Amino acid sequence: MKTEVVIIGGGPSGLLLSQLLNRGGVDTVVLERTSRERVLARVRAGILEDGTVNLLRHAGVGARMDSEGLPHDGCFLTDNDVMVRVNFHELTGKRVMVYGQTEVTHDLYDAQDARGTPIIHNVDDVVINRAETNSPFVEYSRDGARHRVDGRYVVGCDGFHGVSRRTIPLEKRTEFERVYPFGWLGVLSATPPVSQELVYASSEHGFALASMRSENLCRYYVQVPLSDNVADWSDDRFWKQLKMRLPHSVAADLVTGPSLEKSIAPLRSFVSEPLRWGSLFLVGDAAHIVPPTGAKGLNLAVSDVYYLHDALISALKKRDRSGIDAYSSRALTRIWKAMRFSWQMTTMLHRFDDEDSFAAQMRRASLGHLSQSETARRDLAENYVGLPF
Ligand code: APR
Ligand code: PHB
Repeated sequence: MKTEVVIIGGGPSGLLLSQLLNRGGVDTVVLERTSRERVLARVRAGILEDGTVNLLRHAGVGARMDSEGLPHDGCFLTDNDVMVRVNFHELTGKRVMVYGQTEVTHDLYDAQDARGTPIIHNVDDVVINRAETNSPFVEYSRDGARHRVDGRYVVGCDGFHGVSRRTIPLEKRTEFERVYPFGWLGVLSATPPVSQELVYASSEHGFALASMRSENLCRYYVQVPLSDNVADWSDDRFWKQLKMRLPHSVAADLVTGPSLEKSIAPLRSFVSEPLRWGSLFLVGDAAHIVPPTGAKGLNLAVSDVYYLHDALISALKKRDRSGIDAYSSRALTRIWKAMRFSWQMTTMLHRFDDEDSFAAQMRRASLGHLSQSETARRDLAENYVGLPF
């Protein structure tokens, strides 16, 4: 099989890149390790930055988002019973959209199906060959046979555990990492949201987040030790801890219900540089991971796609390689700013086991400064709604 761009990974970044390239006249093949059902069963992020919303509309997949998504003007950060509202719209003129990553992925699959783009699921043993040349090809196994796809370029959208980052020789890569000593236990429940806007809650019991997917589907999180596993957490224990960490006035309105999904995710900050090796490019979680505290994971994958789709179309259709030559440094500039914001939100809101009383005071002072300073709130708002592409 021959194509112009081979995309490894059928998650949001792979599908969005494929959709944008196809609309720019570039042929693609998407290779996905799991089934479509498994991809769509994942419960992931739910906040879309302003730039993400606009790019999804540009890609022709914004209709359901615009009709079913929830535009949010702001969010709350709390320290026990002290509540600070950050009004994104007042401070930046922008808002965010609450619309699940699962729904974004659904919409992208529908659009790609409508175009007839080859998305090959359940592939195994993917190997990227001759990535450093102008004639790379990808091999994979499926249905007991070995297959090959030749392309002018290969893009790794295969997430943190994928094959593409590891195809770049170790001596060519520089990796930066911070592993946090806690995780997030997330629960999905068919209940009305405790608050009309997200609540990022810091407390002496630990961090909690009250989020949502719709008016009757909620996503809640509590910080847990890395040693915990889901079996340690009954629904009752989860709801009790969530109530203890939210401000009393908020917790009083909490409607609990059975968990539809319950999982623990570790928190990590990670960047692998560069994002290119010859004809191979890295996008999204394949190249970087952020702790979910800043709601940047999906949105950073989208900004990588924004830069790369334009660059590949220029290279393939206009023989202008300036975009692909600049991709890595251009994407990394925005990646590091989001990395910083996500790290700052995580250290400001979470209780670290070994922390001393000074650290707790710093958390308190950070939230106190937010409540007193419009400049501090504007800085947080600008990062949260998304820095310009
Ligand atoms: N071959 C083919 N596909 C692979 C391989 C492989 N070797 N390894 C992983 N994949 C697939 C995974 O099954 C997954 O569907 O690549 C896809 C990667 O998707 P994501 O992990 O969702 O990464 P990305 O598309 O960059 O989106 C980033 O997803 O995980 C969240 O928090 C993350 O919100 C962020 C967003
Ligand atoms: C979510 O709704 O899953 C969510 C929202 C905001 C975050 C992280 C996760 O910062």
